[in-house]
Amino acid sequence: MEILDYAWEPSMRTGDDLCDAQHKELIRRLNLLLHAMYKGQPAAEVESMLDFLSKYVVQHFSREEALMDRVQCPLAAANRKAHAIFMKKLATFRDRLANRQSTTALIAIEMLRDISTWLVDHIRNIDARMLPYVQQQGATP
Ligand SMILES: [Fe+2]
Repeated sequence: MEILDYAWEPSMRTGDDLCDAQHKELIRRLNLLLHAMYKGQPAAEVESMLDFLSKYVVQHFSREEALMDRVQCPLAAANRKAHAIFMKKLATFRDRLANRQSTTALIAIEMLRDISTWLVDHIRNIDARMLPYVQQQGATP
């Protein structure tokens, strides 16, 4: 079966090299979960992805928020709000997994929608819109 991976596209460019590199790394990790699901083995990947995201996303989000503030992107507040919503989603998944409230397979399917697809849409619809402001102000030194 052909798997349609998530892919970083030029339309996702933010103009900040590190931010783009972090988005690419996020997408690479999202694809690991996708592949594990297609193989029918989501269990190990669900846990490691939640661990990875909990650490990676915190520092990525805070750097990105500071960047948007610095370049005076009008979406800075909306971005911050979206990040807070995402962190709540992440915490809910971690709790569900820790408390064994749902099967790992169900968590994996919901993570695909609420985490993977959400992140890719977020990069495309919010993060990428800082591009002209980053270009105007100059990328982070
Ligand atoms: Fe963002």
